[in-house]
Amino acid sequence: MNIHALLINRFSEALETMGVENAPIPVSRSARPEFGEYQFNGAMALAKQLRQKPRDIAEKIVEIVKLDDVASKLEVAGPGFINVHLNNEWLANQCELALHDPRIGVAKSPEHTVVVDYSSPNLAKEMHVGHLRTTIIGDAVVKVLEFLGHKVIRQNHMGDWGTQFGMLLAHLSDKLEQEVAETALSDLEDFYREAKVRFDDEEGFADRAREYVVKLQGGDEKCLSLWEKFIDVSIAHSEDVYKKLNVSLTRADIMGESAYNHDLANVISELKEKGIAVEDQGAQVVFIPELADKEGNPAVYIVQKSGGGYLYATTDLAAMRYRSGTLNADRTLILTDARQALHFKQTEIVGRKAGFMEEAQTYEHCPFGMMLGSDGKPFKTRTGGTVKLVELLDEAVERAGKLIAERDNDLSEDELAEVARKVGIGAVKYADLSKNRTTDYMFNWDTMLSFEGNTAPYLQYAYTRVKSLFRKAGVAIETMPVDINIVEKQEHALSVLLLQFEEVVGLVSRDATPHVLCTYLYELASAFMSFYEACPMLKDGIELEVRDSRLALSALVASTLSQGLNLLGIETLERM
Ligand code: ARG
Repeated sequence: MNIHALLINRFSEALETMGVENAPIPVSRSARPEFGEYQFNGAMALAKQLRQKPRDIAEKIVEIVKLDDVASKLEVAGPGFINVHLNNEWLANQCELALHDPRIGVAKSPEHTVVVDYSSPNLAKEMHVGHLRTTIIGDAVVKVLEFLGHKVIRQNHMGDWGTQFGMLLAHLSDKLEQEVAETALSDLEDFYREAKVRFDDEEGFADRAREYVVKLQGGDEKCLSLWEKFIDVSIAHSEDVYKKLNVSLTRADIMGESAYNHDLANVISELKEKGIAVEDQGAQVVFIPELADKEGNPAVYIVQKSGGGYLYATTDLAAMRYRSGTLNADRTLILTDARQALHFKQTEIVGRKAGFMEEAQTYEHCPFGMMLGSDGKPFKTRTGGTVKLVELLDEAVERAGKLIAERDNDLSEDELAEVARKVGIGAVKYADLSKNRTTDYMFNWDTMLSFEGNTAPYLQYAYTRVKSLFRKAGVAIETMPVDINIVEKQEHALSVLLLQFEEVVGLVSRDATPHVLCTYLYELASAFMSFYEACPMLKDGIELEVRDSRLALSALVASTLSQGLNLLGIETLERM
């Protein structure tokens, strides 16, 4: 059920009856419960066209609009707002329908093909916290899009190509004389550092590194097989992280930079033919007047270096053409930190000029802010190094384990380990997902692992509360009678929230903003807690019908929480 969409429909029908066509239909959530749940604010804008006072127009709309089934009251307020108070009987009915539906009442959207480019680590190094945000925000967005019925193509645009590989392969080739690849590459960070030291200090090494690049790009067999070994081990590292994180990426989703290598020369010749790329000091560049500086100098976008080498930008143009042309993406979403915003803006302008995308196809860079330490500076280890993702996740599980063990519970050791894993990983993911994507946020163990506030443990706990309620009542959610009757104001508020789930996932899919879903789930869990206090279910003397109606609402809370957390990639538990 999408209440917002339904109200827009009904109001637009009413306006058509009044002879007004194609007017905007501004329906929004009301700011305070006294004003009902939704508000129509379109009357003011019609005053001129209809030559009537806004309040009179609003009165007229209230007379005409067909909302008898949905609303218990429509009232005109202020200069001409229409407040919509939703009807308890209708709410109860909709909740019953949702409870019977495996999709909890969420309709599928018209299908789009959506390419989502996320995670995309650079294989020269181990995955570090910089790749946490793209990986989990991307995965949540992917899951929401799929839930709404879209065809999603995951693209892990791994940095598996480029000049740094010359240095890495030269070093690997030497090491393989004594060791096998797996041991040589057991710590990618160390391996990278060693190679870099040799590159900087050892005589002749830098030249060998450069030779390796040329040979690799020329398709030399020995180089390629070394490269494959390197890539293979680094991919396995990323896969470990994905598994720990409960992220849906697999090897099949990898479409790294190397996959576009064969097409880069074509991209350049096409840009040249169309007169978009021109030679400038030996390099091929595109001038972008749309992004000129204050003096009017156009931005310069290099697509081929003077030595003939290609760049990150060239690969992104090839990727754009492949996604729009071959994969037929209606939308392409790319998740990276905000520092790459200009690059993608330029890439879009150049790619569109070159006709690499159709007008209607969208290219949406979804930037995000940085993860900061408690000192407000980029998150680092105590000694100032980059934090490896695997280590961070292991620490999360360990800390969660300690906290859970301190709580009053009768979990076995195995259960405790499982709960610690779900809570620890859930907490790290949720802390990130719940922040507005575009701002920086401070990483803080204590807040993210707290059982109070907008955290994963709080939501996971709310879910177990419902589950234990059913255990105590001795009722099975699946087979209980579903006859909902809404009387109390907490029941009313809870049912409205429950029916807003579809609206919320719609926003997440439109804007790639999982934090909107987090905020919603937090509100839902809080509304459930208030309802639970005010509307007893297990107390003596509660009529069976009242109890069952409340249990049914609780059951819908449980399905909605679990569906929502599942979309965020956070696991639920039966007990904790
Ligand atoms: N490998 C890049 C990085 O770590 C991110 C790639 C994002 N995707 C893209 N099509 N450029 O910064």
